[in-house]
Amino acid sequence: MNYQRVGIIGAGVIGQAIFDVIVTQGLAAVDYVLVDDRFAAPAGVQQLREHLTTDVQRALAAPTDLVIEAAHPDVITRLGAELLAKGDLCAFSSSALADVSVETAVRRAAATAGTRLLIPHGAVLALDGLSDGRDAIEQVIVTTTKNGASLGTDTSARGVLFEGSTRDACARFPRNVNVHAALAIAGIGFDRTCSIVVADPETRKMRHRIQVFGQGFEWDISVSSTTLGGVSGAYTPKSAVGSIQRIFGFHPVAAC
Ligand SMILES: NC(=O)c1ccc[n+]([C@@H]2O[C@H](COP(=O)([O-])OP(=O)(O)OC[C@H]3O[C@@H](n4cnc5c(N)ncnc54)[C@H](O)[C@@H]3O)[C@@H](O)[C@H]2O)c1
Repeated sequence: MNYQRVGIIGAGVIGQAIFDVIVTQGLAAVDYVLVDDRFAAPAGVQQLREHLTTDVQRALAAPTDLVIEAAHPDVITRLGAELLAKGDLCAFSSSALADVSVETAVRRAAATAGTRLLIPHGAVLALDGLSDGRDAIEQVIVTTTKNGASLGTDTSARGVLFEGSTRDACARFPRNVNVHAALAIAGIGFDRTCSIVVADPETRKMRHRIQVFGQGFEWDISVSSTTLGGVSGAYTPKSAVGSIQRIFGFHPVAAC
């Protein structure tokens, strides 16, 4: 797409990687990088600092044709429909869509305005396969294993913390199961996708096992990434940069 002006929401691990690729490759003008009050910009990111704002109204008023959210599911809940009423929205915090009222509002806003909600593959692979095979897929089980700190719970937690629908998993772990949400959206939905969340105090990896059972096919995909300390693993900023390049139609290797 030929986007001219973008807004970025969030300047953490993913948001900074996105800002850097857009600026260094001259993909578009960045109107703003919206953060919350708690954000402290690290030293040595002067160019990023110049774009930072905590003013939501300023962000909403900016003449952007694409907003990239890499902040928190609450942002999609509060601003998703309003942003889609004026331009496209790429949402990394896809767990927000597990709330039926949020999904309905954003889908309605996009349909009314003729805009697009883009869901990047983020930490996981195979969204294309899920989407293509959706009609023939009977069961999807996603098992995520992280340490308690990465799950926002007790560091000594061990064992299965959750097993149920992806819709319920998103309500319980909104910042930790975006992978499950993206797979549910691409595939057979939040209610039919099964989520399992496991705590392992000894691991520094974020592991996702995706088991898919369809009519005449089965997949068992495992991806793993070392934690960067927060909710993202080492692969996610790379994947975010690739997704942004593809959205702008600029990628050294065209994947389809
Ligand atoms: N789709 C995926 O596979 C995937 C993978 C990893 C992370 N995520 C999600 O992407 C988001 C960003 O991840 P990250 O690792 O960059 O997080 P991070 O904690 O490193 O950074 C979050 C940033 O968002 C800002 N922020 C938080 N709440 C905000 C609000 N209400 N308004 C404006 N700014 C706000 C913070 O100031 C910070 O700059 C998170 O929601 C995370 O759960 C998705």
